[in-house]
Amino acid sequence: MDIRQVTGEERLTTALPLQAYAFEQSPSGPGREEEFRRYLPYVDGNVTLVAADGDRPVATVSAIPMRQNLRGSVQPMAGVAGVATHPLGRRQGHVRALLHRLLGEMRDTGHSISALYPFRPSFYERFGYVGLPAARTATFAPADLGSLLRVQLPGEVTLHRIGERYGSYRDLTHRLLGERHGFAVPPEFRAVRQRDEDKDWLAVAEVDGAVVGAVRYRIDDHGGKLTGGDLLTTGPLGRALLLRFFAYHVDQVAEISVRVSADETPELWATDFAVHVQRQVVYPTGGAPMARVLSLEALAGLTVGSGRLTVEVVDDPFVAGSYLLDGADGKLEVVRGLEPSLPSATLTGAGLSGLVYGVLDPADVAIRGFGTVDRSAEAELRALFPRCTPYLFAEF
Ligand SMILES: CC(C)(COP(=O)(O)OP(=O)(O)OC[C@H]1O[C@@H](n2cnc3c(N)ncnc32)[C@H](O)[C@@H]1OP(=O)(O)O)[C@@H](O)C(=O)NCCC(=O)NCCS
Repeated sequence: MDIRQVTGEERLTTALPLQAYAFEQSPSGPGREEEFRRYLPYVDGNVTLVAADGDRPVATVSAIPMRQNLRGSVQPMAGVAGVATHPLGRRQGHVRALLHRLLGEMRDTGHSISALYPFRPSFYERFGYVGLPAARTATFAPADLGSLLRVQLPGEVTLHRIGERYGSYRDLTHRLLGERHGFAVPPEFRAVRQRDEDKDWLAVAEVDGAVVGAVRYRIDDHGGKLTGGDLLTTGPLGRALLLRFFAYHVDQVAEISVRVSADETPELWATDFAVHVQRQVVYPTGGAPMARVLSLEALAGLTVGSGRLTVEVVDDPFVAGSYLLDGADGKLEVVRGLEPSLPSATLTGAGLSGLVYGVLDPADVAIRGFGTVDRSAEAELRALFPRCTPYLFAEF
């Protein structure tokens, strides 16, 4: 099977039909090809590989060059998407071969980490990915926010179509990229699709001309639902301004929902505030995200705790090997090799990724089948990679 990169109009006859079969209602109606063509600019910078039998495309994978905050440091991240094999080519190892090639190429071009939304986590666990928390949805009645209408707040909220204030929205996501562990932003060529399609309202909260919050949303009907995207804020003031804006929708909509990080506590947003916080994780369409480390050496300098040990990463084509990890001065130092006098751990790619992303305790490693960690190494790993909750805001 021949594997090659496809670009531009080649996508129309290779990757896109395979992806359409896998992810869309099909067979598609007339005009779909024209829609594919209009979609091309939004995938133009993706790295797309296709496995072909002669000139017949059989399987495809893509990586979106993104950026993600990992423990406070912004890293180039490969957002994997569009993974699909023709039904007659499935279970023959095509995606295995393609993903290995893709992740290797992305690592070699400086992408130290990768993330994706899995159709089934066990599939991607074999490729070194580990589960991250899913964002929650907070649903409430605008009447319960009435107390906010009487609160004096500096700043104001303005209402726009997203196309009009797309730049402000994008700037806010970039600010949060620098501040929030796990936050990821897509590249500009992809993000502008929201501006161009212009399908959402955008409420923007500002204080002294600085954006402190923004939320995209749609309203389905009078007396119906206001469905928001992520409630993006720089802190409590931005959040309060946006919630107060929502409070003015009392008697217009019955219910409001917004997406929030897994460690957000909406029940504390106001007094007598009844809220339903939920996330149902279902596969293949409503999965929690996953992520992995592609290069440990590229993560040198990351802000960590003060642990010191050697780890041996096994069964992984990208990060396999022995490393001395030291966080003595609060920054991760990574040196190749084993130091026999130090506590040591054996980790799979998924085990290493779970610790680096802050979603696994070292005691989880053996339980989950991600390696072996003895007692002394457990304490060092816990100190080196303290638990922290990633918030993968990523519209990809
Ligand atoms: C999922 C899909 C992409 C797999 O492609 P494929 O070419 O059949 O995958 P491979 O043959 O390379 O399989 C790779 C490994 O995963 C395993 N695997 C394949 N399908 C699997 C599944 N549905 N669940 C769990 N494991 C699976 C294979 O056994 C193989 O394991 P091995 O290497 O240890 O033997 C393909 O079935 C597909 O197109 N599905 C519909 C679209 C989809 O869900 N895409 C993923 C979106 S995130």
